[in-house]
Amino acid sequence: MAEIFESPPSQEGRYQPLERAKLLDHDDRSIRMGVGLVTVEATALAPDLFRIGMFPDGRPPDYTSEAVAKEDWEPVAAEMTGDEEISFSTEAATAHISLNPLRVSFSDPSGRTFAADDEELGMGVVELPDADVFSAPMGSPVRLYKRREEGERYFGCGERTSGLDKTGSYQVFWNVDPPAGHTASFNNIYSSVPFTLSLVNGRAYGLFFDNTHRVEFDLAKASVDRVYYGAEGGNVVYYVFCGSVPSDVLDRYTELTGRTPMPPLWSLGYQQCRYSYMDESELREVARNFRERDIPCDTLYLDIDYMDGYRVFTWNRETFPEPEKLISELKEQGFNVVTIMDPGVKVDLHYPVYVEGGERDLFCKTVQGEEFHNVVWPGICAFPDFTNPETREWWGENLRTLTDEGVAGIWCDMNEPSLFVPRQSTMPGDVVHPGGPGAEPKYHAQIHNTYGSLMARSVREGLLRHRPDERPFAITRAGYAGLQRHALQWTGDNSSWWEHLWMSMPQLMNMGLSGVAWAGVDVGGFFDDCDGELLARFTEFGVFQPFCRNHTIKGSKQQEPWAFGEPYESVCRKMIRLRQRLLPYLYTLFEECHRTGTPIIRPLLFEYPYDETTYAMDDEFLVGNALLVAPITRPGIEHRHVYLPDGTWSHLWSGERFEGPAHILAHAPLGEPAIYVRTNTAVPLWPEMNHVGERPVDPLTLLLYPAEGSGESTLYEDAGNGFAYQGGEYARRHVLCEVLRGTIAVRLSVCEGFFTPERESIHLELRAVNTRPKNVLVNDDEADWDYEEVGGRILVRLAEDPGETTVEARF
Ligand code: GLC
Repeated sequence: MAEIFESPPSQEGRYQPLERAKLLDHDDRSIRMGVGLVTVEATALAPDLFRIGMFPDGRPPDYTSEAVAKEDWEPVAAEMTGDEEISFSTEAATAHISLNPLRVSFSDPSGRTFAADDEELGMGVVELPDADVFSAPMGSPVRLYKRREEGERYFGCGERTSGLDKTGSYQVFWNVDPPAGHTASFNNIYSSVPFTLSLVNGRAYGLFFDNTHRVEFDLAKASVDRVYYGAEGGNVVYYVFCGSVPSDVLDRYTELTGRTPMPPLWSLGYQQCRYSYMDESELREVARNFRERDIPCDTLYLDIDYMDGYRVFTWNRETFPEPEKLISELKEQGFNVVTIMDPGVKVDLHYPVYVEGGERDLFCKTVQGEEFHNVVWPGICAFPDFTNPETREWWGENLRTLTDEGVAGIWCDMNEPSLFVPRQSTMPGDVVHPGGPGAEPKYHAQIHNTYGSLMARSVREGLLRHRPDERPFAITRAGYAGLQRHALQWTGDNSSWWEHLWMSMPQLMNMGLSGVAWAGVDVGGFFDDCDGELLARFTEFGVFQPFCRNHTIKGSKQQEPWAFGEPYESVCRKMIRLRQRLLPYLYTLFEECHRTGTPIIRPLLFEYPYDETTYAMDDEFLVGNALLVAPITRPGIEHRHVYLPDGTWSHLWSGERFEGPAHILAHAPLGEPAIYVRTNTAVPLWPEMNHVGERPVDPLTLLLYPAEGSGESTLYEDAGNGFAYQGGEYARRHVLCEVLRGTIAVRLSVCEGFFTPERESIHLELRAVNTRPKNVLVNDDEADWDYEEVGGRILVRLAEDPGETTVEARF
């Protein structure tokens, strides 16, 4: 069960900080030191990335980790000086290592010191009074104490539903399926990313504590000037990302742990789910409603009831007699079908998946060597040992029972793993993961947090094998740092409560600050009954999530966008259409995220680390850098406070202009949520359509709110699926908008890349321009344009042209 308000260190035993160290050896990028049986190694992996490892009990350095995607770092020229007080420097930062006692700190050329060991407590091992047989392979608990610099604030920590600022808090990293109706006071829930982004005077650095045992952080809770990172066993391995802006930290962090893959474009459209659409006629009915009501939707879900007795990789042929036919007919209407799967494999001697898994020895074991069993949806189950590469391959091969029928993507659930005995528990720590031939078996306690990631990895790899030319679509509920390279994460079972609508914002922003950018919560809420106003407001927020899916539990009221009648259906339609129109913008952000790790929805502090007012802004967010969204999160309210950071912002609906930084009161009646557009920053929009591919993207609109000054933005396009973009088949254009002494100039750069969008025209839509221009020129010729007084709208129609295009409106 998730924990509430606890303080570490929770382990027993006597903590022994490292004392005097001996320098053992060093090379260009690493220094090794010894303290008795403990080896400590400091490595410069990149100019702004250091790794520190502490290996007790004579264990050799080992950095293998499910989190780490990159091992082949370029050579770095690191220079070592000193002998007792060693400086180990790259061009971007210095690691300072004092040998007596062994302490490590960092500085950069600006003179700031960061991630400095606590003088007194440093790093070390907890000596346990009497280590038993079980704890032996785990090793002793390990700890790392760092000094908190004056004013230092901590962010990140993965999926946390409380606010953004984690300073003064205690954090547990241990994946659990929390009880229904979790609140912001819960600590750990489904996934674990033991990573902090620190800000001191607006300058950033990151620290990733890579340990897959149960991990705890005390972020200056017990003592205001000290932080603690500890684990129940294993080694201390941590990475310091020297920054010094949040985007640089995230860039390196996601280079290390892997980037979000490019999504198939269809998966960015609106998605509809329910536990469960029980049979094919119900699913067809939902599909029909979407199209008849003109509400965009790209994806429909089958929850566990499509299976035969919840047996994974089977179909219930009574309720879904011809899945292939059903799925292909839905595909013709523009719907993709995604199916759920759980790790538990029903113990049933007539069920080939179970029999084969057992025969090939692919399941987890008890310490006595029996198959480990527990209860999940299908009854008594065995659990795949996903640490074994053969298991992952086998699981991935079994996906054919779904992909052969045309299933478009896979939703991995219950993979903390969640067990029913006792209710919502997880595997006992002494369950054994044999790991396959030649592997060193591991106790579950050693790898617990990776179980979800490893399942998602087997699914992604399987999908890629079955359809090498398509981008896999995989969802996971649980995972560990780096899970973003296998699957998107949806945040499990929220509730149809206003509080959960609020909580979704810090939760998704915290995930984005921890590398898990492709994420979303169940729109409308999972547990309990939704109502029309809550669904409408939830949808006003939800359409900006990187993953936008409405989902609810069995027995709850229907929750599809039309379920509560008017005016809510119209609000949902309007918002879902807005999302569909925004797809080129979202897609551009996904490509940026894929390349640099920059989150898609961002806390204001990501762009404005120097503005400490942003640190508390957990109920509004940026989508890319052009849109600021501030949802209403209470019933019966049409107004709310919004903080607009530095810059000029235009209200999306009225065009009203504001100069930030400013605190304002926004009027946001149903259907007009508070959305602000950064001026001079183009937002690309598609024409209205009900699903991806329904019609050509022609014209593409570039929406701009011009204001004195200038701004730049980007449009990225490619085929929307497949991998040709990696060979240069993409089109990237920059849009520069300059407003100077009454002239608005918009310049579209030459198109980079070899992809040719299939369309004839681009519309430039300038809004909130109060006077009619005297003339509008395109590359010095009179343009095809008109002006509407309502909304001060100039519409310029341009022919699609990959060359440089300049539009000038003169007044
Ligand atoms: C879990 C999932 C939920 C799903 C249900 C039935 O509670 O989190 O989304 O609907 O299981 O499969």
